[in-house]
Amino acid sequence: MSEQAASLERTAADAPKRSVFRTKIGFVLAAAGSAVGLGNVWRFPYFAATYGGGTFLFAYLVVVATFGLVLMTAEIALGRWTRLSPLGAFRKAHRKMAVVGVLAMLVPIVIFPYYSVIGGWVFRYSFTFLTGGASAAAEAGYFGAFTSGTWAPIFWLAAFIAVNGILVARGVQKGIEKINVVAMPIFIVMIVGLAVYALTLPGASEGLGHYLRPDFGSLSALTFIAATRQSFFSLSLAMGIMITYGSYLKKSTSIERSVIQIGIIDTGVSFVAGLLVIPAVVAFMGIGGLGQGAGLMFVTLPQVFASMPGGALIGALFFTLMGVAAITSGISLMEVPTATVMEKFGLSRPRAALIVAVGSVLLALPTTLGFGVWSGFQVAGMNMLGVMSFISDTALMPVVALGTVLLVGWVVGPRAIAAVVKEDGAPFRMEKLFTVMTKWVAPVLLLGLLVTAFLMAAGVIVL
Ligand code: PHE
Repeated sequence: MSEQAASLERTAADAPKRSVFRTKIGFVLAAAGSAVGLGNVWRFPYFAATYGGGTFLFAYLVVVATFGLVLMTAEIALGRWTRLSPLGAFRKAHRKMAVVGVLAMLVPIVIFPYYSVIGGWVFRYSFTFLTGGASAAAEAGYFGAFTSGTWAPIFWLAAFIAVNGILVARGVQKGIEKINVVAMPIFIVMIVGLAVYALTLPGASEGLGHYLRPDFGSLSALTFIAATRQSFFSLSLAMGIMITYGSYLKKSTSIERSVIQIGIIDTGVSFVAGLLVIPAVVAFMGIGGLGQGAGLMFVTLPQVFASMPGGALIGALFFTLMGVAAITSGISLMEVPTATVMEKFGLSRPRAALIVAVGSVLLALPTTLGFGVWSGFQVAGMNMLGVMSFISDTALMPVVALGTVLLVGWVVGPRAIAAVVKEDGAPFRMEKLFTVMTKWVAPVLLLGLLVTAFLMAAGVIVL
């Protein structure tokens, strides 16, 4: 064990007792509640549609099974070891690594505002369906007319932030986790059912083929960059959330098993959402319909609902449950800046939440206006949503991920982390993979991805 690792061990032993997750399944569900959200149902199908269907799906599965699970293991173990939140965890591990903790804290500050724009859309659709507007929502142009407006989308994103803010202010994550336990299974059953229905639509099989059949000839660095971005986002990695959750984890809980369960739940939901959305888009609009980007889910699903018996009711339920899933992710995003404001300025939780909420509404304005009056403003061909998500998941997150694997692979050493993983007494079956990944494969690939993404953004290379 290296010197840092030994000192880390002492620090951990001296650390004050920290609250812990009461049950094993409680931890898995809390982590899965953070992971499963808009990223799975809204973003995954749109990324898959944009970046080559089956080719993207293939790259995505490879990335999750390697990077994703390794990074999640590293983060949870780092948290359980240091019993600290990211800022402290990175600093404790090595002074020079403190900057990684700071960057990790920045990620949710960038993501939460644009996440709220999409959360606001979901709220709006839920409201529309609940108030009998199902057929209006299925009309062409409904989505564009709504999102390109100014005040209506601002109202709905503020509503989304307000709900998150109230929950974070009251610190009732426990309550929301309970809602999650009920809502999540219903939601999963529902999207599986909807996917089965969507596959029976005439013309769905062409979409299915596009989604499932990889075309290895078109596999490029871009596919892997997109898959990595999406996997970090979807698994809630590279921003310290899993470090924080890990710091509440009991020694008797198997990290390895939890990671696999979280990975399967999150990836399973994304996969099924793709099965639902992509064949449905192709059935209603042909292959060309896949180019709609961020609007994919909002344009297609209302049409699916309109085509089915009882669709108005099912649509209402769907968008409402989607809203709940978005909130359980949203509060995990909002918690980080709120806790930081509390600590740094010595404010009460409600005050800190209010400040973060107001700040987030302001930061969300460019993103929402980017679909309307500011749509002419583009950076490297991206609208504001594209710019914001570029900053978070093309720039910041790979840097944080790189810092994390370097910390694990080279500073404290994979052996020390493996020892934390083995604290429950069971063998760490993926230890070899973990070691090779954190020392060599992940650092090299992440560095490559970062450099490529920047050269692409700067227009130096075209993929
Ligand atoms: N993973 C969430 C989703 O897929 C989004 C999220 C990202 C939540 C990062 C928390 C942290 O919707």
